[in-house]
Amino acid sequence: MLVLGIDTSCDDTGVGLVRGGRVLANKVASQTLLHQRFGGVVPELASREHTQVIDGLLEQALAEAGVRLRDVELVAATRGPGLIGALLVGYTYAKGLALALGKPFAAVHHLEGHLYAALADHPEALPPFLALIASGGHSHLFRVAAWGRYELLGATMDDAAGEAFDKVARLLGLGYPGGPEIEKLAAQGDPQAVPFGMPLQGQGPGQYAFSFSGLKTAALRAVEKGLNKADIAAGFQRVAVEHLASVVLRAAHDTGLQTLLVTGGVAQNRALRGRLEQAGLRLFFPPRGMATDNGAMIALAAWRRWSGQGDPLSLPAAAYLPL
Ligand code: KG4
Ligand code: ZN
Repeated sequence: MLVLGIDTSCDDTGVGLVRGGRVLANKVASQTLLHQRFGGVVPELASREHTQVIDGLLEQALAEAGVRLRDVELVAATRGPGLIGALLVGYTYAKGLALALGKPFAAVHHLEGHLYAALADHPEALPPFLALIASGGHSHLFRVAAWGRYELLGATMDDAAGEAFDKVARLLGLGYPGGPEIEKLAAQGDPQAVPFGMPLQGQGPGQYAFSFSGLKTAALRAVEKGLNKADIAAGFQRVAVEHLASVVLRAAHDTGLQTLLVTGGVAQNRALRGRLEQAGLRLFFPPRGMATDNGAMIALAAWRRWSGQGDPLSLPAAAYLPL
């Protein structure tokens, strides 16, 4: 089955083509430079940019995959969550294509896309497993009992993990996105030189929750004291990684699940990978280019969930959408 997947949930336009769970093409147009000078994503600019580039990206993806538009058998797009104006560009575009081609349409949850990106190279992997989604907008830990059955074990109580990397990067005068910048600078620092307290571990219902705002405040204090920036980056990264890992490992212990998908932009962090590898879990990470927002992950999720029945074209996009 040839599936077209489109994601315009935030500031990246993603168009991907997947056949039988294999990624044939995955084109992403990043808007990082457009928004950089505003210090964050400007929703109206993001929507306009999506409309400018989406046609061209689709053509590039078809050419790279060596397929024709009329060969597409299912058209999938992100329904939510995200910036509503941005979402509507890709979502409405995909509905129009499905209608014109006479093919079914699939509305996909953005986080479901992130989950299945981690299995892009391993279509053979089967649930149950744990899934950590750590990106600029999300820090969620799910237990995936079966395809399409998700139980939220924990989420962040304040900032998302990637957001914390971005904010600390800004405090240190580094560029956006902050994660890769922090990682680079941390390599030159001493991770023990600056004291960072470990965020509190929850108990009871919130026992798998994350919290990153205290680390951000500690980084601010260290910057105000004029401490070495590489040491601050290294210390922050050490504790952020240890916090993510310790919550996940506790969940693995408690649920008896030893397989973990790690996905979202923060999955690219090598310190996090190293820490989780050390713990001896069976790990799945997205391949290059699929940890951050993209269209192929949406096509993969639609393919996994395909039941022979498309979604109605009347189904609206949604800025807020629980999984
Ligand atoms: O998944 P993504 O593209 O966007 C959202 O859907 O939010 O993730 C982007 C986030 C940014 O916050 C970025 O700083 C973070 O992922 N990130 C990283 C790394 N690469 C990207 N964080 C830590 N280490 C990295 N190497
Ligand atoms: Zn995302």
